[in-house]
Amino acid sequence: MIRTPVCELLGITHPVFLGGMARGNTAPRLVAAVSEAGGLGALGATGLSPREVKETCAAIREATERPYALNYLIFRSEEEGFAAGLAERPAVMAFAWARREQPLKEYFGRARGAGCKVMFMAGRVDEARRAAEAGADVIVAQGSEGGGHVGWMGALALVPMMVDAVAPVPVVAAGGIADGRGLAAALCLGAQGALMGTRFLATEESPLPQAFKEVIVRSDGHDTMLTEIPDIASGQVWPGAMARAWRNRFIERWAGREWELRQNRAEVFDALQEARKRGDPGEASLLIGQDAGLIRSVVPAAEVVRRVVEEAEEILSERLPALVRLSRSGERPAGAVGPGPGERPVAPE
Ligand SMILES: Cc1cc2nc3c(=O)[nH]c(=O)nc-3n(C[C@H](O)[C@H](O)[C@H](O)COP(=O)(O)O)c2cc1C
Repeated sequence: MIRTPVCELLGITHPVFLGGMARGNTAPRLVAAVSEAGGLGALGATGLSPREVKETCAAIREATERPYALNYLIFRSEEEGFAAGLAERPAVMAFAWARREQPLKEYFGRARGAGCKVMFMAGRVDEARRAAEAGADVIVAQGSEGGGHVGWMGALALVPMMVDAVAPVPVVAAGGIADGRGLAAALCLGAQGALMGTRFLATEESPLPQAFKEVIVRSDGHDTMLTEIPDIASGQVWPGAMARAWRNRFIERWAGREWELRQNRAEVFDALQEARKRGDPGEASLLIGQDAGLIRSVVPAAEVVRRVVEEAEEILSERLPALVRLSRSGERPAGAVGPGPGERPVAPE
């Protein structure tokens, strides 16, 4: 079992987090399944009316008594929905994407006042530092490999930079993680856990239409791109982010013709909604990460949590220590080619 201090802080069993994905990409069944499995389920609450927030939280509560999070995009400034979320007093309020001039302290203070721990997701080190100074309990370092709206830096460099910048505030890594190798790598980089979006979109409990889940399973991970096209279509200016989306017919139709998309925004947006309703992924906006290339089947969310934790544990307790033991003893791993440690290369004849 892998336990890090962030597990104690948030009252969870495993350092595995569901990304709080808005716009119908998370639903009570999925949130509860992740929390019941010992991770932290999170509901993307941005865009929900106060009544929807209430009903959704009641449905989560019905399915689990374990901690869960509500996620809000700060730049959207949806006061009524946010106030409704606070009234539900979730264990964690998870925030992301604030404009520079927005007062983080105010949001965090209100969350704390409702008895919640505060998480903040950042794609830049200065943003993470600002959130830590404003009192965040946990920072999520989100790499540009991830699905949805992301920053510009890959997780391999970003995570340790953020770990150093905000210490002793714990950091959770996100972006491109879909299996136990990703969790183990995140821990090696100094993070205390892994947050996953795309992996959980392809689960049985995910609210995505089946055909969308199949796109993730079929993806080789090379078929995503960073683009502003989904945001232009939905009429939303994101502060400092592009969206990582599946490069489908919809994206290819408008790439390079964004000006024309702006002209036809309303019809295009309606067509996107229709495509989602009829389950046509080629004509919808489907945000997924590069780690789609690691996802081979649609499984229950609890199985994702279990597999990720078991694989990471095996890597950290068996595979990596075995490498250290081998290098200390000077023994060669089975199948090794080339000179061993301290040996000279053999000169060609
Ligand atoms: C469809 C989709 C919607 C998302 N919506 C949100 C959101 O509303 N709030 C948020 O903090 N993060 C959101 N994210 C980002 C995730 O929280 C997470 O950082 C990202 O999915 C991690 O990368 P991965 O997809 O490779 O696991 C979204 C991601 C996706 C794929």
